[in-house]
Parts: sequence; C-alpha cells; structure tokens
Amino acid sequence: MKELRPHPKIKIGASILAADPLHLEREIQRVQEGGVDLIHVDIMDGHFVPNLTMGPFVVEGIKKAARVPLDLHLMVEYPSKFIEPFRQVSGKGDYFTFHIESKDEPRRVISQLREAGFRVGISLNPPTQAERVEGLLGEVDLLLVMTVNPGFAGQKFIEGVMPKLRHLRSLSPELDIMVDGGINEETVPIAARHGANIMAAAKGIFGKKDPAQAVRDLRHLTQENFLAGSDPATVGGRH
Ligand code: DX5
Ligand code: ZN
Repeated sequence: MKELRPHPKIKIGASILAADPLHLEREIQRVQEGGVDLIHVDIMDGHFVPNLTMGPFVVEGIKKAARVPLDLHLMVEYPSKFIEPFRQVSGKGDYFTFHIESKDEPRRVISQLREAGFRVGISLNPPTQAERVEGLLGEVDLLLVMTVNPGFAGQKFIEGVMPKLRHLRSLSPELDIMVDGGINEETVPIAARHGANIMAAAKGIFGKKDPAQAVRDLRHLTQENFLAGSDPATVGGRH
C-alpha cells in the first residue's frame, strides 16, 4: 500500500460491541496500539432497539482503560434521562450521540448535552429522511449516519443509504460525519467516497485476528477514498 499523509479529519472508532466482554481492558489496549481515535460504546435500552447492552457501570470501567475519547452512541427512547449518569463517568472530549428518532425534543437534548460538557452527536437510521436532521447540522459536532438498522453488531451494510450520506456531506463540508454498521475493508471505500470521514466498526475490527492492524487498514482505506471522484468545489473541498 502506498504511504499517504495522515488526513487530519479521518478517524476510526472501535465499537466494543464485538470485543471480548471478559477482557475489555485488553481489547481497548489492542485497538489503541493500532492508533484508534475513538472508543465507540453502543448503549441500548431494549425499547428503542430490541437489545440491551451496557450502562454507566460498565462505561466507568471502559473510561479507565481508554486513552482516546469515548463516543457514547445512545440507542434509547429518552436520551435526556441518561445525560447525567453518563456525565458522571465520562470526561472532557467525550461524545454523546443520540437519535433523531428518539422521543425527546432534539434541541433540548442538545442544550442539555452542552451544559453537561459533552461533544454532541446526532444520528439517523437508514429509513429516516435527511430533512429530519438538516436544521440541526450547525448545532452538533458529529453526524452519525447509520448504515444498518441499529440493535446488533455483524449486520450487512445498507448501500442504499449512500445518496443520503452524500447529500448531507454536500450540505456540511466541514462537519464530522460518521458511518456505523457493516463497516469493513469492503464497505469503507464506498462510505468514504460518499463523504464519511469517521468509520465506526465492531466486527470489522474486533472480529479480525489482529484488531490493531484492522484499525490501520481501515484508516488507510478511508484516506485513500475520502470523497474520491467528487467535485471538490461542491463537496468537502475545504477539508
Ligand atoms: C449497531 C451499533 C453499531 C454496531 C456495529 O446497532 O450501533 O455500532 O456495533 O457493528 P458492526 O460494525 O459489526 O456492524
Ligand atoms: Zn453504534
């Protein structure tokens, strides 16, 4: 592979949903050795999605092992309820990403998150129209475009989301845009070409024999493909 200069905006997040739950500290160290930028933590409430994962108790442990920011991805009906408990176990630079499909009023959640000191992310599911988040893009630090219907690791990347991703990138050339779901060495080039600069992956990293190397490979592929073939005057040209 040819050497590329590191792109300042390209980031890789490792979702611990596919890590070994008995050895989270070791798993986090392994991806940090590969230069991971974010530890992506999938928090599910059994209502917004048909699965339950972890709460502040486990996140407190993860925080102790992490040398990079946490990216808390809240797949919950009422994100507001969880801001304070997660604030207590997280720190400066950590993200709290909630869904536009949740039941709380988004602008209120955003201001509560700012007050709590979080970086703010907003997410939308594959069937959700871009218009739902367009008016909020100037108010968040991160847009998470889901490339699977949330709930489980190891699902197939939905390529039909790509036109929406490209459209949202064209509206926000400077925003951090993450994709999450079915991200691996085959799908990273597609998502990067359509404007995603942050890749979150569970199986695509922890499902590999060498997770540190998987992080390096995904980063390289993202750099190589980020907005390749796009008109730089209209999309992402000022990165
Ligand atoms: C899905 C979660 C994802 C999931 C990704 O509901 O939000 O973060 O862990 O898993 P993979 O990368 O295996 O599709
Ligand atoms: Zn996630």
